[in-house]
Amino acid sequence: MQRALLRLPRRRRFWSLAVCAAWPASSWVPSLAPRRVLSRCVAAKAEASDGEVPSAEVVLQQLEESGLFEGQEEMLLRLRMLAAQGVHPLDALRASRLQEEEPRDAVLESFDIEGVAKYMQASKCKNVVVMCGAGISTSAGIPDFRTPGSGLYDNLQRYNLSQPELIFDLAFFQSQPAPFYELCKELWPGTYRPTRAHYFIRLLEEKGVLRRCYTQNIDSLERQAGLSPEKVVAAHGNMDEAHVLDSVPERKVDIEDVRRAIFAGEEGWQALRQAHGGLVKPKIVMFGEDLPDRFWELQQQDLQECDLLIVIGTSLVVEPFAGLVGKAAPDAPRLLINREPAGTCEQRVFGFRFQLPEGDNWRDVWFEGGCDEGCHALAAALGWGEDLQRLESEAEAE
Ligand code: OAD
Repeated sequence: MQRALLRLPRRRRFWSLAVCAAWPASSWVPSLAPRRVLSRCVAAKAEASDGEVPSAEVVLQQLEESGLFEGQEEMLLRLRMLAAQGVHPLDALRASRLQEEEPRDAVLESFDIEGVAKYMQASKCKNVVVMCGAGISTSAGIPDFRTPGSGLYDNLQRYNLSQPELIFDLAFFQSQPAPFYELCKELWPGTYRPTRAHYFIRLLEEKGVLRRCYTQNIDSLERQAGLSPEKVVAAHGNMDEAHVLDSVPERKVDIEDVRRAIFAGEEGWQALRQAHGGLVKPKIVMFGEDLPDRFWELQQQDLQECDLLIVIGTSLVVEPFAGLVGKAAPDAPRLLINREPAGTCEQRVFGFRFQLPEGDNWRDVWFEGGCDEGCHALAAALGWGEDLQRLESEAEAE
């Protein structure tokens, strides 16, 4: 995974899909950076901004020679790695300092679901951005990835992979396509039904407050729940479309043909490969691949203009998706609905602050529990309980 992390996409200066759990790129230079180092470096940056900014290499050398990082060599190494990815060391240090954000006035009356509901009603929220992950589909019967025991990555023994994430690795797929195709077969849309959490997101759209739903899920259940295509960004792709790998210009392949081939097993996908002169892949984003254009076109403005961010059912360890949390407008409340805390500011720049003592958190809430329960609780607090029930019953009746 480290290899994928370091591989820069050809077209953009953004990172391609990468797991950042082992060494969270999001931790940048962590908050353990001593204050004296930070203040000196930020002062250096301020001075430099009057004239020419010294190159990354010069700054790294000066930092090393200054001895400021003595005993913290790992930090220097991280700065070097970031510099190799095009992040200037002074910017990285500045970001880590900004992580020590000055406390602001609280934007919520209380740091719970009721507080979020009151905020939504009082501020007439119109631009809610939702970010979601595998946790919203587990109650539909689809396993998530990283929950120990039940998660997909703990249950791939039959494929004999040295690392579970290899199943979504582009280079691995090119050399051994069978495990990925097998997995597609298991997860092919149509087998599962949307959950209460999906219908809650649909309800946000019906109420006219949903700006966008960014999903990492490849099950297309957001669309199945009735969300409009323009409201959904499938950040990690899905199985709605397929193409011939590395075809320029892109050659799409009818998804029904692909489904039939995959369900026919190795014979089927080998025949498809022959017919199209290359491997055919459903458009799921793999590690080492760039995210869809739509993600890059919309994310910046959506997050800057959001008035509430709701993050549901994700461990927030895959970049660049996870980084969206830190891009939300600084005064926009952020609600995490998840069984475990994820994306906190100890793990990432501008991460959640709900775990900090009162005063250091002015906008973040963690609902510790199930995605469906959290969404139900928020709907009830908003007085939308019956509407949510109606959506679910209508879907059941279909
Ligand atoms: P993960 O499996 O990493 O995280 C799921 C999170 O949801 C965990 O924090 C769980 O504790 C939580 N969770 C699971 N079920 C829940 C429930 N019913 N209620 C509340 N919380 C629950 O899944 P993602 O974060 O979505 O990449 O994973 C991100 C990406 O990693 C995926 O998109 C996938 C994978 O490699 C691709 O498919 C390309």
